[in-house]
Amino acid sequence: MPTATAPARPAPAADTAERGRRRFIRLLGGGAVVAIAAPVAGCAAGVPEAATQPWRTAAQETDVRRWMLAHALLAPNPHNRQPWIADLSQPDAITLVCDGQRLLPHTDPHGRQILVGCGAFIELAVIAASHRGVAVTVEPYPDGPPAANALPAGTRVATLRLGAPGSATPDPLHAQITRRHTNKTAYADGRALPAPLLADWSRTAASLGLRSGVVTATDELQRIRRITREAYEIECVTPRTWIESAELMRIGPAAIERHRDGISIAGAMPRLMHTLGLFDPMDVPQRGNANHGRVMERWQAHETGSGFLWLAAPGTDRRGPLDAGRAYVRMHLQATAAGVDLHPLSQPLQEFPEVRGPYDALHRALGVDPAQGPVQMLARTGYALAPDGPSPRRGLPDLLRA
Ligand SMILES: Cc1cc2nc3c(=O)[nH]c(=O)nc-3n(C[C@H](O)[C@H](O)[C@H](O)COP(=O)(O)O)c2cc1C
Repeated sequence: MPTATAPARPAPAADTAERGRRRFIRLLGGGAVVAIAAPVAGCAAGVPEAATQPWRTAAQETDVRRWMLAHALLAPNPHNRQPWIADLSQPDAITLVCDGQRLLPHTDPHGRQILVGCGAFIELAVIAASHRGVAVTVEPYPDGPPAANALPAGTRVATLRLGAPGSATPDPLHAQITRRHTNKTAYADGRALPAPLLADWSRTAASLGLRSGVVTATDELQRIRRITREAYEIECVTPRTWIESAELMRIGPAAIERHRDGISIAGAMPRLMHTLGLFDPMDVPQRGNANHGRVMERWQAHETGSGFLWLAAPGTDRRGPLDAGRAYVRMHLQATAAGVDLHPLSQPLQEFPEVRGPYDALHRALGVDPAQGPVQMLARTGYALAPDGPSPRRGLPDLLRA
C-alpha cells in the first residue's frame, strides 16, 4: 500500500534536480525530451510480455470458478491496483474480498473507486460464467456494506453463487473481455459516436437502475474539460495525492514485471532519466515550476475525443459504486465491440477536500445532485488515434485464498 506521507521536496534540492534536468534536456536536443520525460499515466507501450500474460491465458482455465476469476481479473480498476482476493472456501461460490493492502487512501479516501473496480470484476465473472452455461447469483456485501466514509479494507464485497450447468445462455460480450483496454492516448476530435452504441449504453445503465448521459455539445464538453483539468492540477500539486500515484509508478520492464500493477512507465527516455537521477517521481509539481509545466502538458491528450460518458447511482449507499462498476465494464465491452474507446478521468469525482470545488462544479455541469446519488464514473470517449495494448495484471494464483 502506498504510504503517501512523504512531503514535497525542499526547494533547493528540487532546484538542483531541475537545473540538472534542464542541462540534460539541452544535451539531448530540447523540447521533445521534455514531453517524453513527463510522468505518464498507465502507458501500455513497451510493457513486457510476461506482465500481460493473463490476457492471453484466461481461456486456458478449465475449472469454472478459476475460469471466471481468470477473466474477472482483467477488469478495469483505479490505478490498476487490482484490490481483489477470491475466497473459494465455500463450494460452488466465490467470495470477493477487498484487499486492504491495495487501496488509494488519499485520492480515494472512501474506497469508492476501489469498489467501482470490484463491481467491474464481479460483472466480468458473471459474463465469463455465462459463457460456460452457468448462471450466477450475486449477493452484495454478505456481512453488510462498509460504513459510508470508511475504506473497504477486508470487506467481503460480494458472494457469487454458481447455478447448475446449463442455467445460463452465453453473454455475447464475453468475446470482448480480452480485447477491452483503456486507451489513454489522444482521440480524434468531434467524430460522432454510433447511435446503436449510445442506445446500448443507455439500456445498460437503466438495467442497473443508474442514470447516465453522454456529453458531446462543444460548450458542455469544454466546460467539463476545464473542470477536469483543474481537478487534475489539484491532484498533482497536492503532495500526498501526487506521492500516492508516484509510489505506484513502475519505471522500466523489471519493475513492471515484478509488480504487474500500478502505473507502467516503459518508455526508454524516462527510464534513462530516472537511472541518471534526472527524473524523480517523488518531485511534487509546484505551480510555476517546470515539472508542473510538464505534467500539465501531458494532460493535453486527455482533452481530445468525441465526448464524455457519465454514470450516476440512484442513491448514496455502497451499492452505487458496485452497480456503476458492473454497468461501466459492460459499457466498455459494448464500446470495444463497436470500435469505440473509453478512458475514465476520475479527478473531479474524488472526495479529498482540496478537490471539492471541481467536484461540485462537475455535478452542477451534469445536473446531478450528489446528495441524491453522486456521479460514479466519468470517462472521455471517442476514437483513439493509436491502439493501446493490455496493461499488466497479476496472475490468478495471487488472488486465490482457499
Ligand atoms: C473506478 C475507476 C477509475 C479510474 N480512473 C482513471 C483515471 O482517473 N485516469 C486514468 O487514466 N484511468 C483511470 N481508470 C482506468 C484504469 O487506469 C485502468 O482500468 C487500469 O489501468 C487497467 O487498465 P485496463 O482498463 O486497460 O485493463 C479508472 C478505472 C476505474 C475502474
